Amino acid sequence: MTSTYEIIHHEHDVVVVGAGGAGLRACLSLAEAGQRTACVTKVFPTRSHTVAAQGGMSAALANMGEDDWRWHMYDTVKGSDWLGDQEAISFMCKEAPSAVIELEHYGVPFSRTAEGKIYQRAFGGMTTHFGQGQAQRTCAAADRTGHAILHTLYQQSLRHRVEFFIEYFCLDLIMESGECRGVVTWCLETGAIHVFWAKRVILATGGYGRAYFSATSAHTCTGDGNAMVLRAGLPLQDMEFVQFHPTGIYGSGCLITEGARGEGGFLTNVDGERFMERYAPNAKDLASRDVVSRSMTMEIRAGRGVGDEGDHIHLHLEHLGPEILAERLPGISETAQIFAGIDVSKEPIPVIPTVHYNMGGIPTNIHGECLGISRDGVAPQVPGLMAIGEAACVSVHGANRLGSNSLLDLIVFGRAAGQRAAKTVSTVNTPLQGDRSAVDNILARFDGIRFSKGPASTAAIRLRMQRVMQANCAVFRNEQVLNEGVIQIDETAGMFADVGVTDRSLIWNTDLVETLELENLLAQAQVTVHGARARTESRGAHARDDYPDRDDSDWMVHTLACTKENSIELSYRAVTLETGMPEVESIPPKARVY
Ligand code: FUM
Repeated sequence: MTSTYEIIHHEHDVVVVGAGGAGLRACLSLAEAGQRTACVTKVFPTRSHTVAAQGGMSAALANMGEDDWRWHMYDTVKGSDWLGDQEAISFMCKEAPSAVIELEHYGVPFSRTAEGKIYQRAFGGMTTHFGQGQAQRTCAAADRTGHAILHTLYQQSLRHRVEFFIEYFCLDLIMESGECRGVVTWCLETGAIHVFWAKRVILATGGYGRAYFSATSAHTCTGDGNAMVLRAGLPLQDMEFVQFHPTGIYGSGCLITEGARGEGGFLTNVDGERFMERYAPNAKDLASRDVVSRSMTMEIRAGRGVGDEGDHIHLHLEHLGPEILAERLPGISETAQIFAGIDVSKEPIPVIPTVHYNMGGIPTNIHGECLGISRDGVAPQVPGLMAIGEAACVSVHGANRLGSNSLLDLIVFGRAAGQRAAKTVSTVNTPLQGDRSAVDNILARFDGIRFSKGPASTAAIRLRMQRVMQANCAVFRNEQVLNEGVIQIDETAGMFADVGVTDRSLIWNTDLVETLELENLLAQAQVTVHGARARTESRGAHARDDYPDRDDSDWMVHTLACTKENSIELSYRAVTLETGMPEVESIPPKARVY
């Protein structure tokens, strides 16, 4: 069967799959260290979803008031609702200032204070003195921070001669006796199959927001790396924790940065009331995202939503004035005009909580090395495989990510993984090509989909999946809704056996790309809903009406989900409470006060 394809083999020390912030930052460390590095990416690097990150990157630089990385760590642990691993969180927060300064030196055009320092804005859940004051910790390049970082990293990667393979769709990991030996990819431009043999594969493939109907994520966010990991029989971690960003534009789902509230914007209900003052008297509109999204949903449920259907909320920026809007929020001013027809200097923006981020993903340690199912309390490393960025679950975000900790996660752990691989992968040339039968099996699956003749269209199955996820695994959940969700998502996944692809060509076949992506999304949707049904508590973004309290005695554990012959297997591992650093103590669980 493989003889029908033109197959080109490559050998590299390290292959990075994905060219967003994390992937490019890893590439840069590797190339600087002299590793033969290939970056294989589905989209042109500067179109990766990092480009859409708006508000900024957190780091306790103290440019705009006092700050300390230990306060940042406290906020992140609390924001995670005590599901984050404190070793990873303390590492990330301590590394943050140097990671930002390094980006500045690479050329990121951050906004500036009057004295010429990097500008930092307020963001939700970011405090000083362990929750006492409001921190200004989020380093911003106006409201296009991800764009600025991504372009700088791409330029630096080119400068350091990273080899890019652009618009290559990654089909699967080559696994031999539990070790990752490379990846098989399909070049969309030529139709050829390219096999990348490597000593180390780093997955930086992003999240899977497109499993939902309404998401701030790009249409390319289909979690392809996560799905490859599941197909390799490896676990994904904490997939039930899906973040809803409070301010997606009603109707289109486009992101309006939390930085808008950081600059002084606020939410109102149909009575014009600033309702966040009732739900979070201290943090108000800058409470963490899970809290704000739930509060908005409760207002709408109570009949206090705005609009003809009473199904959304207003975000006000009119009072900020044209100068702040032009200097600090130019991107979202334009987005609101295009996607909602709103002039933000005159009228409020209609917003609704919208799927934004996946806290769950491929379990790793702080070096980005992938972890398998725990045995006797120890999670074994998966040889040859690493993961970073939104694809990974290291876990710094636990049950809920704080805004602006994502760009930080990409850069800190992209750098850490690149440095780890640079240190542990030998640059001595040795033959890398392994068992070709693994490649044949991957191509057999590809053929199965390419030549599928079933009656169900990719678009119909995808729409059904997205509607089930939106209705049955949303901001609020309960047993009945989740039971229904499990049945419906399993049925929808079963429909994939009846999918039919009409275009069988190999060059720019978007029908086939979308069908491969759909299979990837379905597997992740299944583990998300199964994990959510099993977790009988409320924690972070997982809010259950029937179990409203956090249950630390039974549920302060990470969920590990594997797919086995069409069923989902769940197991659990303990949260790491130790910080691994003598200079900072772990933060014991506390009651929630907002
Ligand atoms: O609201 C925002 O600008 C998004 C930031 C983030 O998700 O970290």
